[in-house]
Amino acid sequence: MSEPRQILVTSALPYANGSIHLGHMLEYIQTDMWVRFQKLRGNQCIYVCADDAHGSAIMLRAEKEGITPEQLIANVQAEHSADFADFLVDFDNYHSTHSEENRELSSLIYTRLRDAGHIATRSVTQYFDPEKGMFLADRFIKGTCPKCAAEDQYGDNCEKCGATYAPTELKNPKSAISGATPVLRDSQHFFFKLPDFQAMLQQWTRSGTLQDAVANKLAEWLDSGLQEWDISRDAPYFGFEIPGEPGKYFYVWLDAPIGYMASFKNLCARRPELDFDAFWKEDSTAELYHFIGKDIVNFHALFWPAMLEGAGLRKPTAVNVHGYLTVNGAKMSKSRGTFIKARTYLDHLQPEYLRYYYAAKLGRGVDDLDLNLEDFVQKVNSDLVGKVVNIASRCAGFIHKGNDGVMVAGDAAPELTEAFLAAAPSIAEAYEARDFGRAMREIMALADRANAWIADKAPWSLAKQEGKQDEVQAICAQGVNLFRQLVIYLKPVLPVLAADAEAFLNVAPLTWNDHQSRLENHQLNPFKALMSRIEPAKVEAMIAASKEDLLAAEAKTAPAGNGELAKDPLSAEIEFDTFAAVDLRVALIVKAEAVPGADKLLQLTLDIGDERRNVFSGIKSAYPDPSQLEGRLTMMVANLKPRKMRFGVSEGMVMAAGPGGEEIYLLSPDSGAKPGQRIK
Ligand code: 2FM
Ligand code: ZN
Repeated sequence: MSEPRQILVTSALPYANGSIHLGHMLEYIQTDMWVRFQKLRGNQCIYVCADDAHGSAIMLRAEKEGITPEQLIANVQAEHSADFADFLVDFDNYHSTHSEENRELSSLIYTRLRDAGHIATRSVTQYFDPEKGMFLADRFIKGTCPKCAAEDQYGDNCEKCGATYAPTELKNPKSAISGATPVLRDSQHFFFKLPDFQAMLQQWTRSGTLQDAVANKLAEWLDSGLQEWDISRDAPYFGFEIPGEPGKYFYVWLDAPIGYMASFKNLCARRPELDFDAFWKEDSTAELYHFIGKDIVNFHALFWPAMLEGAGLRKPTAVNVHGYLTVNGAKMSKSRGTFIKARTYLDHLQPEYLRYYYAAKLGRGVDDLDLNLEDFVQKVNSDLVGKVVNIASRCAGFIHKGNDGVMVAGDAAPELTEAFLAAAPSIAEAYEARDFGRAMREIMALADRANAWIADKAPWSLAKQEGKQDEVQAICAQGVNLFRQLVIYLKPVLPVLAADAEAFLNVAPLTWNDHQSRLENHQLNPFKALMSRIEPAKVEAMIAASKEDLLAAEAKTAPAGNGELAKDPLSAEIEFDTFAAVDLRVALIVKAEAVPGADKLLQLTLDIGDERRNVFSGIKSAYPDPSQLEGRLTMMVANLKPRKMRFGVSEGMVMAAGPGGEEIYLLSPDSGAKPGQRIK
């Protein structure tokens, strides 16, 4: 046996200001399956990740919610961790880039780069919001497109005509944060001198570290010459202050990849057998793999190896890039209900269904992967339930009934045993190469052979015949042995199915090498159904709930009058007339009920004096017992255009505060107010 390999693996760090969706999950499931495969093979494989917690978007969102950035990132981290755990993504450590380890490592890497002459400084002229007192990133500036005159376009590109431009070219620019007209202002910025690493990167990107398509794309940038990279941002900014440079902060993308190291360092403190320096020193023999999406290749395959090289540290062994997820052949869409959050999926379906489907469709390339929901149901039901689990469920009963659950010795189908053994190296090779699709095809071809053999032997017919009991037992023991081998091969993809199968088989956790042995004269435990079929109705319910997620989100950022605010990332000023156009009324909640089939909505009947209104509101999470709201006064927008929803027409909107979940607070007037009174 060769020595176990030492392998450190990462997935991209998700931003700490949004929920995980099935597009994210493609990457975490892909990485987790690869890591589980390595562990199953006996390698020392460590999988770390973290929330990407810095940047102005997170700072502004926290401000908007009236909480500190630290509170926001703690809330989001709890949500992310639960989503990953429930999808069976088994990190060895999940940390945050807003951590002491990351502060120290970022500072160390920066000072090494600076001392080696790889940092430049120069003045940069940028738009500044005089009211908010901050420089504005392009996405926080809006104005009129210089090319087609479309209004309300972002600072770097026009959604109408597709033009790209500098924010200074935008006509009538406004801060999307305060609505103020921005002014140009100079400030000193810090740059990482990426061109210093041109030669190293030319060589490194072509040394087997990247898929060909990725290396070819990078060659275009490398050949046209690299630019220095602006790594600083001015206060106010949520991040780490640059050592020795008060008021200057590291740009979020500087400390994000260092977050991989920081998460590993945090783990090393708990796991004394892990040696941080041994993994990260320049001549480390440990392997380092980053799994990422194709949108962030430049950060991982140019900036990051250059930073590591400049700081005297090891570079990645490989950066593994995947494509985007589409659903039913198109970009995920909120209105079609195909923008599916991890939690929404988990509310309706088992995680292993999706893990298997992704595995079956993932190759080693950067092509997009389509989650076709019909195919998903069909494939999972036919492969996992119809082929794999079926083998055990066909055989177990006869062994329990005919032989007290003991598998007899002997090999009833040597040619199948041989084929199952012989397939192992090729399946392992496919896993190693991240060609999960090929691994699944080879495993299912074995399952087909096992099923065909059992069907041919038909133990169910033999069981009815005199004197065939030994034959029945020999066939079924063979069937269970073949099933056991399939479970080993599928274990990286289906860890829960494997654990349940181990319980049925009455064996210790299976490792890869166990495929070479078989169970003989072995007592089984009672057989319980290992996996049930996907009911298409569950998929439909998930799509309906995803549409509802959108409505609940819209209800939170309800358009006020002119509909402008909902589109802005942050609130902008409105004219008095706009405000005056909103018909705000005191409303009496006459009836409050849950909506059948809707997880988040309540249906409210509101009395506004001269009429009654039917309103759907996404506040159920805070009021699990809706009847408690009956008889209470609240405030409503009474002249909102009626909206047709799946459950009926919503005729207005009630007003509530808070970030969501249990923290939604319905607003109420002082006692004495009467239903129908206008709020002025
Ligand atoms: O694109 C993103 O979602 C980033 N938060 C990924 C960061 S990966 C790493 F560099 F930290
Ligand atoms: Zn335009």
